[in-house]
Amino acid sequence: MISVFGSDIGDAEIAAVTACMKSQWLGFGKKVEEFEAAFADRLNLPSFVMVDSGSNALYMALVLLDLPRGSEVIVPSFTWVSCAQAVLLAGLKPVFCDVDADTMNARDIDVEARISSKTSAIMVVHYAGLPVQMDAILRFGLPVIEDAAHAVDAKWRGRSCGSIGEVGIYSFDAVKNLTAGEGGGITAKDATKSARAKHLRYCGIGKSGFEAATSAPSLARWWEYDIKEPFIKMLPTNIAASIAAVQLSRLDDLQARRRAIWDRYDAELGDLGGLVLPKSASPSDQHGYFTYCVRAKERDALARALLEAGIYTTLRYHPLHLNRLYAETERRLPNTERLNEEALSIPLHPRLTDDDVTRVIAGIKRFYRR
Ligand SMILES: Cc1ncc(COP(=O)(O)O)c(C=O)c1O
Repeated sequence: MISVFGSDIGDAEIAAVTACMKSQWLGFGKKVEEFEAAFADRLNLPSFVMVDSGSNALYMALVLLDLPRGSEVIVPSFTWVSCAQAVLLAGLKPVFCDVDADTMNARDIDVEARISSKTSAIMVVHYAGLPVQMDAILRFGLPVIEDAAHAVDAKWRGRSCGSIGEVGIYSFDAVKNLTAGEGGGITAKDATKSARAKHLRYCGIGKSGFEAATSAPSLARWWEYDIKEPFIKMLPTNIAASIAAVQLSRLDDLQARRRAIWDRYDAELGDLGGLVLPKSASPSDQHGYFTYCVRAKERDALARALLEAGIYTTLRYHPLHLNRLYAETERRLPNTERLNEEALSIPLHPRLTDDDVTRVIAGIKRFYRR
């Protein structure tokens, strides 16, 4: 079966994990700090704090913003569940907005339609890696949380996605452009937020006993923690950071492979009436190439035909406002509901061979010429 998502783990990642194992320091440590510095440098971020998942980074981002309890955060409905779960868990209310059917990103008019006196922040998602037009969102003057889970190598007007709003998050889960197996992280404009993120991820503790003992040798009773505030544990491991560091060093090649597949789909699927191809980034922006999401009126039949041909496709995402937990029965989000009927992610990841891509293209052409 050709898979829709995937990562590419090579000998260098395996060697890095082996070295980490041999060091006997598997949990949080130097490898994490080294990866954080390298990632911030590559993306030109003011700061970067790694945590154990992108979902947890979203929750932490909302906590860092200190928004009034019960206030509303605007979230696109066409996104992964963590975006809304994080809002709810932070004691806030998700209010879902529509997206543009072509870019699959929220626009200013989508956000504006949901702004009320209770709105305290806006969450945007750079869907598939296509940068959101951030100036249009920033003009509302509300704190913006950027979900750059798909956009680790994407840029809006030369600036890394994730670094433009008040806080931004990344995901390094098993199928993301840069994987750590599981992992994520947060960047914040304000240095006090990054400092707070560092103690939050360690159960709210300022310094570990080891850190305290080694950084201030005259200190007695270094094991008496300074707990700054209550929080859950989100520490990433040296193992995850070892994988991530190698992936970061290979990111240009991994992205080039994704882009080559994207360009082949663009070139070879363009003339099939009924199949709408995803938008490319504008010349001033850079796409992140996370998923190639097409639109088709006969989407379910196309997905079934591809599955029968050994090609797994899927929809990212089932709209949140249609989900039982978040159902907003009175609210219609027409573009999102249309995407729910027509959108389909087809295989895009660096481990696909040229033959795999040929098979995907042939499978789609066969469907349209049947
Ligand atoms: C848009 C988006 N945000 C957040 C996440 C959460 O990331 P993680 O899987 O690392 O928890 C994902 C994961 O798929 C995602 O697609």
